[in-house]
Amino acid sequence: MPPSNSAVGVGIRKVTQLGHPVLRKITRRLKAEEIRSADVQRLAREMIVTMDEYDGVGLAGNQAQEDLAIFVMGLPKETKRHPEGIALTVVCNPVITPIGDEYEEDWEGCLSVPDLRGLVRRHKKLELSGLGLDGKPFKRVYEGFPARVVQHETDHLNGLVYLDRMDGLSTLTYISEMGRQK
Ligand code: NI
Repeated sequence: MPPSNSAVGVGIRKVTQLGHPVLRKITRRLKAEEIRSADVQRLAREMIVTMDEYDGVGLAGNQAQEDLAIFVMGLPKETKRHPEGIALTVVCNPVITPIGDEYEEDWEGCLSVPDLRGLVRRHKKLELSGLGLDGKPFKRVYEGFPARVVQHETDHLNGLVYLDRMDGLSTLTYISEMGRQK
């Protein structure tokens, strides 16, 4: 069953901010039967609603106060910077296998680190494996911006934020100053 963001009575979660200890935890992996439980199904819906509310493209379990290895991602088509969009996806226990040795550098931000952007080098292409919201294993290949989001969210579930992946902090920029960047 595809994830739905239309569930009635699903609450928006408070997004944990940098400094909250759960953001630095290696999150707990989920068993298939646990993923199919009402609690985790509801958590996934709440994470999607929260991501939409704050205009994020991804949200990790520990950003929603939960020490659980689950992330959601999604972006509608036809946005200015990424018109191809990202299909709404829920992933548990993600594992990344880079494909090839190409990297790309681009700006990243994070709902747990508000108002800032920084340049981060990421693998251009990768295979993501994990369990879906139905508890079944899947593998999918991502390239470009969606691959970047997969790496950012998987990092969260391993206790890392994008600041840890920057080659120094010299490109760290307030969003209000982004117009000054080339
Ligand atoms: Ni983030």
